[in-house]
Amino acid sequence: MAEVTVIYPGSFDPITNGHLDMIERGSRLFDHLIVAVLTNIEKQPLFAVSERVEMLAEVTRGIPNVSVDTFSGLLVDYSHAKRARAILRGVRAFSDYEYELQMALMNRKLAPALETVFMMPVESFLYLSSRMVKQVYQLGGSVAGLVPPVVEQRLREKFPDRAVVEG
Ligand code: PNS
Repeated sequence: MAEVTVIYPGSFDPITNGHLDMIERGSRLFDHLIVAVLTNIEKQPLFAVSERVEMLAEVTRGIPNVSVDTFSGLLVDYSHAKRARAILRGVRAFSDYEYELQMALMNRKLAPALETVFMMPVESFLYLSSRMVKQVYQLGGSVAGLVPPVVEQRLREKFPDRAVVEG
């Protein structure tokens, strides 16, 4: 049978341990997993695309069937160009579901043969998001164990003057 490539798309601003858990799970299920960073992001990102790609590349270095790439435009067009059969998305809570359903159905309308596969991250990361990581870190809280060490290091460099909350 032909090898199956899956695209794991997102903003990854920055990658969290929840994303990493999804990447590890996906890499065990599919022959090849491409982590695809959206470049024309609507939100104002904290990390430049190049920084996000560097962090992703570093934390996935040990997984041979995972590669990191960027894309712009429609996800279905990018997936087609990569000959991917599926899109992988993580669903944490009910609150994710509506947006994910909308996206999956829009993508299906645009590319009926491309499947969206939903997976759940490990329970301990169900509450985790890049947005919260950035907020907590900026306000002095610890994000240890929530992001890979390279991300913690980059956050430290971004906010050298942040006040640390003790206790
Ligand atoms: O990490 P995010 O921000 O939830 O990822 C969202 C992403 C990148 C998967 C989504 O915004 C996307 O696919 N954008 C590309 C544009 C596109 O294809 N839109 C149509 C489907 S909604």
